[in-house]
Amino acid sequence: MVLFKVLSGIVVIAFTGTLASVSESQLPSQAIFVDPRSFAVMGPNADFRNDSFNMLFNPTSTTPPFFQIFDERFLTILGGSPSFREIASDPTFAFAHEAPVYNEPTDEVFFSSNDGGPLGMSDLNHNNVISKISMKEVEAALSANATGPVNVPITQLNLSDSIQMTNGGTGPYNSSILLVTSGRGSSPPSIVLVNPLPPYNATVLLDNYFGRQFVSLNDIKVHPTNGKIFFTDVDYGFLNLFRPAPLMPFQVYRFDPDTSAVRVVADGFNKPNGIAFTPDGNTAYVSDTGASGGFLGNNLTLPASIYAFDVDPVTHVFKNRRVLAYADAGVPDGIQLDSDGNIYSGCADGTQVWAPDGTLLGKFFLGMSTAEMIFAGDGRLVILAETKMFLAKIAAKSIPLGGPSRN
Ligand SMILES: *[C@@H]1O[C@H](CO)[C@@H](O)[C@H](O)[C@H]1NC(C)=O
Ligand SMILES: *[C@@H]1O[C@H](CO)[C@@H](O)[C@H](O)[C@H]1NC(C)=O
Ligand SMILES: *[C@@H]1O[C@H](CO)[C@@H](O)[C@H](O)[C@H]1NC(C)=O
Ligand SMILES: *[C@@H]1O[C@H](CO)[C@@H](O)[C@H](O)[C@H]1NC(C)=O
Ligand SMILES: *[C@@H]1O[C@H](CO)[C@@H](O)[C@H](O)[C@H]1NC(C)=O
Ligand SMILES: *[C@@H]1O[C@H](CO)[C@@H](O)[C@H](O)[C@H]1NC(C)=O
Repeated sequence: MVLFKVLSGIVVIAFTGTLASVSESQLPSQAIFVDPRSFAVMGPNADFRNDSFNMLFNPTSTTPPFFQIFDERFLTILGGSPSFREIASDPTFAFAHEAPVYNEPTDEVFFSSNDGGPLGMSDLNHNNVISKISMKEVEAALSANATGPVNVPITQLNLSDSIQMTNGGTGPYNSSILLVTSGRGSSPPSIVLVNPLPPYNATVLLDNYFGRQFVSLNDIKVHPTNGKIFFTDVDYGFLNLFRPAPLMPFQVYRFDPDTSAVRVVADGFNKPNGIAFTPDGNTAYVSDTGASGGFLGNNLTLPASIYAFDVDPVTHVFKNRRVLAYADAGVPDGIQLDSDGNIYSGCADGTQVWAPDGTLLGKFFLGMSTAEMIFAGDGRLVILAETKMFLAKIAAKSIPLGGPSRN
């Protein structure tokens, strides 16, 4: 979880430049090409950005939502006729924060509300909530309105009290939604399976480390080939005033669902947050959102970065750490991959996409922060933007998230 200020007034950097290597005629609708050559030199009198959270990079002053392209490879991700639409909205409630899970059998996306941050309606004394949206209803609403935003109703679930401050989710795993919770007050952080069908019953898989509570668990993925469950632990529960002060370092762990054994696989972060694996399972990505400090405020000298690691085939330890990307806007939060291995992460201006070589290819530019997103099947990217949800219909394909031969 990351606490972003709600971006009311977007500050835009203006400049004049030439857009050369992708011609306007090649661009699909809602797409803008920003050639890196056009802003490489801004001149001594330019208005430089001195804040990455509240001053966003929109040199063409285009009205969101739009596709901001920096590298022509982003055109392959978008395909010939992409669209980018608002599908749900509630200006009073950050109902769409993290833990997105697409349940293919019911064509629904599950997600959590903001835990402890602005408009989250949750704090030390109030739990956050899990809701779902029907993609069938989204498709019907979009067909009925060719251009404008639509507002599809969401359904709030009534889950077990064992689920406190959900911040991450993945799967389905064994046909269940796999959630990770931050805990609330003295209630421990946990890993929980939830039935995606009524009565939405839950089973807790883990709630401690040899009798010690985790700090406030943040995000989770199942390894695609070894089937182990990996999760991050960091102090956003404390920084958002709903968990006690940390008593453990901020680390990445592995849980073995067959034996219930837990071990650490990576440390040395400022604030480990989002996690993802390449489809072959050889590479892990972990974001570090150190620059976002909850009640401590933002510190632009701390990490806003995604790191890549090799996953040791025997021990599953994350090794050979190298930096993949440093986000230009806010911090990169949740991470998802497409089937070509491109890396998507939620930042202060929307969802940004990097190639495996670390080049920023483009952005799903919203002018507002996104913590997470999920492919609802091939070609449908659902973006959670706190008080709004968006659907981008593109060419990129999803990857399985349920582990080896489990769905
Ligand atoms: C950032 O720039 C704005 C506008 O020029 C200025 O008002 C503000 O003081 C600057 N902040 C910092 C931290 O330099
Ligand atoms: C589509 O949505 C827009 C914005 O909400 C609205 O103004 C317009 O009337 C809608 N069009 C149809 C055909 O429903
Ligand atoms: C949750 O509980 C409320 C109040 O009892 C009820 O109206 C609602 O239908 C329940 N939601 C679901 C998804 O069952
Ligand atoms: C929900 O209850 C059913 C019926 O008892 C059980 O088979 C299933 O494993 C439960 N699911 C979870 C996630 O607890
Ligand atoms: C997943 O399902 C398999 C087969 O039904 C079962 O043996 C296993 O215990 C389940 N794992 C978890 C973590 O529920
Ligand atoms: C920002 O972080 C750096 C590196 O940890 C630290 O030296 C500095 O004091 C921090 N600045 C503020 C304002 O907290």
